[in-house]
Amino acid sequence: MCVTLRRLLEETAGYAADYLEGVPDRPVTWTAGVDELRASLGGPLPEGSTDPHTVIRELATAADPGLVSIPGGRYFGFVIGGSVPAATAADWLTSAWDQNAGLYAGGPSAAVVEEVAGAWLTELLGLPPGASFGFVTGCQMAHVTALAAARHGVLERVGWDVNENGLFGAPPIRVVVGAERHTTIDRALRFLGLGTSCVVPVAADGQGRLLPAALRAELAAGGGPTIVCAQAGNVNTGAFDPLDEIADAADAAGAWLHVDGAFGLWAAASPALRHLVAGAERADSWATDAHKWLNVPYDSGIAFCAHPDAHRAAMSVRASYLIHAGPGGPRDQMDWNPEFSRRARGFAVYAAIRSLGRSGIAELVERCCAHARRFGEELGRAPGIEVLNDVVLNQVLVRFLDDNGDHDARTAAVVEAIQDDGTCWLSGTTWQGLGAMRISVSNWSTTDDDVDRSLEAIIRAAGIVRSRG
Ligand SMILES: Cc1ncc(COP(=O)(O)O)c(C=O)c1O
Repeated sequence: MCVTLRRLLEETAGYAADYLEGVPDRPVTWTAGVDELRASLGGPLPEGSTDPHTVIRELATAADPGLVSIPGGRYFGFVIGGSVPAATAADWLTSAWDQNAGLYAGGPSAAVVEEVAGAWLTELLGLPPGASFGFVTGCQMAHVTALAAARHGVLERVGWDVNENGLFGAPPIRVVVGAERHTTIDRALRFLGLGTSCVVPVAADGQGRLLPAALRAELAAGGGPTIVCAQAGNVNTGAFDPLDEIADAADAAGAWLHVDGAFGLWAAASPALRHLVAGAERADSWATDAHKWLNVPYDSGIAFCAHPDAHRAAMSVRASYLIHAGPGGPRDQMDWNPEFSRRARGFAVYAAIRSLGRSGIAELVERCCAHARRFGEELGRAPGIEVLNDVVLNQVLVRFLDDNGDHDARTAAVVEAIQDDGTCWLSGTTWQGLGAMRISVSNWSTTDDDVDRSLEAIIRAAGIVRSRG
């Protein structure tokens, strides 16, 4: 290797380590506004070259104030995991190795690592042995992949080849979903040409759980190719649809059952929480993330399918210049993925699973849930704060009550004050018509002290907003 490249990588490792070491002491939020970032990162298209040491040094400096401390233990926004050290390091190697993980021939180790990690994940998440899988960018694309398999499967059952004939003139597909499904389901259906008019929402309860009786009634009311989308882990409440009952209803109707388990499917990795996903293993397809609860760097999601033939038929592609492994040969990733050329995403997943092991993953999930319960208990005890959800997993929904009754406005103001304070970061939502603050504990590195400091910051912000009137 040329000396310059080694020195560049070592310098870069230094910037990365400095950043990560500094995370516990920096504000969790960004400190520069968009104008400042545009000024420091922008400028005209460079005409000539700049030496890479300068590029990386200046990039690290200019980007720094616009970074959010997502890797740290006090980031509770959206549903965002950190990255366990082995996964971060494996991700660096992935870039250095720069394999094209579309085909076995583009990097045999990348292909075999995905094969191994996919089988480990299948076992960890309690899915049927032999389920097929594809490593994609996130749960959004896992839905696209799995629902493409579903679309193929349900139409094939009625004699329609969607690969050849597309959807013009196809028997209509009904997609029955819970009223509180994640928005990425609808978006996946749009991408797949099914449109949102195929979506039939059925009622959910106050926690966001699909009501099986409403599902049964809806399924009985119509026929034809049907996909049911259930959810393991609501993005706001963490609640689980009653998957076993839903699987019964889908079975009886001959429907394809897809489970959105972006983070909730990881409950299966914990003996203490596994009951929450009982019945998930009966589904036809599943979508989840590794960048959430496995704490793998972005981006990393996985689609699984109980019908490898439908999955492969929906995804695979051939070209004369490609080198495809034959039947019984090694696994070509593009047979299971919507991408063609692609990053070797499996290395980081593999490294995370190896470094944590089955017990470490269970412990990570359970620890996050214990922190979430503490948030729920302590905030629930504080005057003028209401916890809106049953804290069954890692999500806590909180509302700040206002003396004059304008709880939505006060909640939004408290969220803003917490974000400005910078001790921790979380954001707002509207839950069944009520303004609320969301806390998602999804990071391996969150400690009791992080929870203490964040609780103090939340309660302090609530007090400041109240005294401001
Ligand atoms: C339940 C659920 N499904 C799907 C998604 C989308 O995941 P991603 O952002 O990885 O595409 C999320 C994201 O939070 C989610 O919570």
